[in-house]
Amino acid sequence: MTRPLGVKVPVPMVDLGAQQDEIADEVEAGLKDVFAQASFISGPAVDEFEQSYARFLGARNCVGVANGTDALELALRASGVTAGGEVILPANTFIATAEAVSRIGAVPMPVDVDPEYLLIDPGRVAAAVTPRTQAIIPVHLFGQTAFVERLVPIAASCGAVIIEDAAQSQGATRNGRFAGTLGRVAGTSFYPGKNLGAAGDAGAVVTDDDNIAARVRLLGAHGSEQKYLHDVVGMNSRLDTVQAVVLNAKLRRLAGWNERRRRAADRYRELLADLPGVVLPRSAEGNIDVWHLYVIRVAERDRVLAALNDAGVGAGIHYPVPVHLSGAYRGLGLGPGSFPVAEQAAGAILSLPIFPHISEAQQQYVADQLRAALGRS
Ligand SMILES: Cc1ncc(COP(=O)(O)O)c(C=O)c1O
Repeated sequence: MTRPLGVKVPVPMVDLGAQQDEIADEVEAGLKDVFAQASFISGPAVDEFEQSYARFLGARNCVGVANGTDALELALRASGVTAGGEVILPANTFIATAEAVSRIGAVPMPVDVDPEYLLIDPGRVAAAVTPRTQAIIPVHLFGQTAFVERLVPIAASCGAVIIEDAAQSQGATRNGRFAGTLGRVAGTSFYPGKNLGAAGDAGAVVTDDDNIAARVRLLGAHGSEQKYLHDVVGMNSRLDTVQAVVLNAKLRRLAGWNERRRRAADRYRELLADLPGVVLPRSAEGNIDVWHLYVIRVAERDRVLAALNDAGVGAGIHYPVPVHLSGAYRGLGLGPGSFPVAEQAAGAILSLPIFPHISEAQQQYVADQLRAALGRS
């Protein structure tokens, strides 16, 4: 159904209502158990989630933590990255990727992204390696999977560890393997709007390396294996039990919801195919993407974005300022022009609403409003 132009049909960037309706009964039953057992910290729901998510990905270990930023920090610390060490990461990512590095006193070393998929560019990574390089963080941005296999030989040649930032790619695969299982260890976020989202903050570290998993568990539990005996300075970062109940219910549906996102992406491609001046995203060869975000590129982006927002379309920008140009990282001394692909993209990218239950009518409305905004230029 095509709605008349100019009629406001709000289409939010993300609408979690339908997801919540689907899981409501399971969550209610799960919460009843948690309260009946008063197992508010850890307990069966957390164990179940850690085991189920590891099984889903085909990984040996999943350790639940408080959020995705902690997951990356703990993954860095557990893999031996130390203060002063350099960690190569893409200039185009959410700030948390760099924050995790800074929090342990290591130095984020942004590099440019490739012009097609806006993922970390392996050629740039090779050029950025120094004797101080300790880790490389490919970010699986927008629901894609980065080209980790091209980073593996670079990491091997300099003794660096590959730590995947899988916050935006739960269920995505590259050459048949899940994002988050391609490096030594991965951190992921279950922030509510993620493909697998909690009802609050939550995250996890995933790894086949039992030593790293054990270290993450130790560091996230105040550096303690035995109550009140603290062998190292750790932190408090546990997966909240209430969040685990929600995540257990949602994980059962993740594959189906990702399939719906793929159908929505296909629909946008049909609806927007003939729009001149719009660059549509496409999947890299070997990738099955999960479309956490649907990121197009347009000229006069800010004007187009304002027109969409005025029409009730919750479009946004991910992300308007690359890491090296944000105030927090002015100290790196990397000014405009340092990473031209990321910088140019930041001025052109526009995220259209996408979520598993977006309707055809909503997508049609978004397409109509985008067409109108472009026609006005
Ligand atoms: C790419 C990326 N890395 C890290 C994070 C940090 O996760 P959190 O917000 O759970 O700390 C997020 C999400 O917010 C993200 O999108």
